[in-house]
Amino acid sequence: MAKKTLRISKIENGTVIDHITSGHALDVVKILGIAERRTGVVSIAMNVPSKRLGKKDVVKVEGRGLAASEVDKIALLAPHATINIVKDFKVVEKKRVKLPATIKGIMKCDNPACVSNSNEPIQSQFTVEKAEPLRLKCHYCGHVMEKADVLKQF
Ligand code: CTP
Ligand code: ZN
Repeated sequence: MAKKTLRISKIENGTVIDHITSGHALDVVKILGIAERRTGVVSIAMNVPSKRLGKKDVVKVEGRGLAASEVDKIALLAPHATINIVKDFKVVEKKRVKLPATIKGIMKCDNPACVSNSNEPIQSQFTVEKAEPLRLKCHYCGHVMEKADVLKQF
């Protein structure tokens, strides 16, 4: 087989999540809730050689785009990911995910005594201290959360 043969086929319509931090393809699939929902074809490639990252994962979802909340969650696990919108086999839009300086409401603080877990109507809020390896600090109680803690909630 020729060296340049594609590992997974191009898609006609849908979303290609490219440059996923190696090892996180299945977490991305989980975020997208593909197991529960009726979605089109999903293709996953892991440990694909990449000039930029050394190794990367790729997830292709046919027939749909991504919600903003899904993109935010992906940014927490794979800060280098690119979201490619494909229409009629062409990439019509390409954007890098962006990890904001503050994360609001995406996940809960792990500290049960935190005011954001009380009956008060307070939305969780974290400051991103580091993107990779991920380090988030609760705005209310100072509790530090890492990637594994965040993953448990997705
Ligand atoms: N892709 C796809 N189906 C298409 C078009 C593109 O599955 N019809 C995939 C490509 O395989 C690639 C990603 O979408 O994984 C982005 O495509 P493209 O922008 O053409 O590739 P590059 O220029 O290599 O992307 P980048 O510069 O972001 O690395
Ligand atoms: Zn807290």
